[in-house]
Amino acid sequence: MKPFVYITRKLPEEIIQPLQDNFDVEMWYKEDEPVPREVLLNKVEKASALLTMLSEKVDSELLERGKQLKIIANMAVGYDNIDLNVAEEKGVLITNTPDVLTETTADLAFSLILMTARRTIEAASMIQDGKWTSWAPRLLAGVDVHHKTIGIYGMGKIGQAVAHRARGFHMRVLYHNRKRLIKVEQDLGATYVSFQQLLSQSDFVVCLAPLTAETKGIFGIQEFKQMKSSGIFINAARGAIVKEVDLIEALKQREIAGAGLDVFEKEPIDSDNQLLTFPNVVSLPHIGSATEETRRKMMSLCVQNIEAVLTGNKPITLVR
Ligand code: DGY
Repeated sequence: MKPFVYITRKLPEEIIQPLQDNFDVEMWYKEDEPVPREVLLNKVEKASALLTMLSEKVDSELLERGKQLKIIANMAVGYDNIDLNVAEEKGVLITNTPDVLTETTADLAFSLILMTARRTIEAASMIQDGKWTSWAPRLLAGVDVHHKTIGIYGMGKIGQAVAHRARGFHMRVLYHNRKRLIKVEQDLGATYVSFQQLLSQSDFVVCLAPLTAETKGIFGIQEFKQMKSSGIFINAARGAIVKEVDLIEALKQREIAGAGLDVFEKEPIDSDNQLLTFPNVVSLPHIGSATEETRRKMMSLCVQNIEAVLTGNKPITLVR
């Protein structure tokens, strides 16, 4: 019997072809909706491999059911949806999709800076709503990005790619990270600062750290109060790194000037989430790595990792 592979979203046939050639492959039939939990729990019982999205919770209940599981290939660089310790206990390998999405995600993070600072969503809505009546001296005047100070929280590969872009805008680059990165400082002219200094000195605080026990909820009201009142907060990492009620409060109290968010505590966001009511908040539906080219590379990398493990080889991008 061929090993069974279950894919939790509809992916293009030509990308999963290598799996279909060698294994018994099934796929959830919708692209825009996650597989129901019950279906997944059922499928995992006979699966040797799962190809998952970040919307799937890979916890002890699921791992317990997957008695034959050898690998879970998660189609994301982040893997906070997976209980790594239980996976390790059960001998299930976990892979992610680093590198292939670095530049694309940095593009999106930087565009959130530009959109928020230059009020481009408000501007586009004005013209679409037929409300543009005249050129005016201060019509939708935002703030400059060039020559300002950017503070990057989490100087991994995506953080570095954002720093690289910031240099092109002649920005002063500050960063805070678990450890200092001397080579990066030399290459990118970035300066390591404490978390407090990052908050108080930056015009744009950009969160690009992974979600871990250490980073969960690290941006709360005290942190927003330490930011400049003209400061803009950007999050292109994970929603749970921010206490969303505190961000809403900080915006109401004008502790900060705006926010650009690609991620939220709860995704999809509820339509009555107060964040959607602020004109100075740009909200995007978690599209950091969403280009046709990059998403295809991420899918292919998952396919290659599964192929490798099920044929007795080492996966390319092993997390643990
Ligand atoms: C990731 O890869 O972790 C992103 O959030 C989704 O592309």
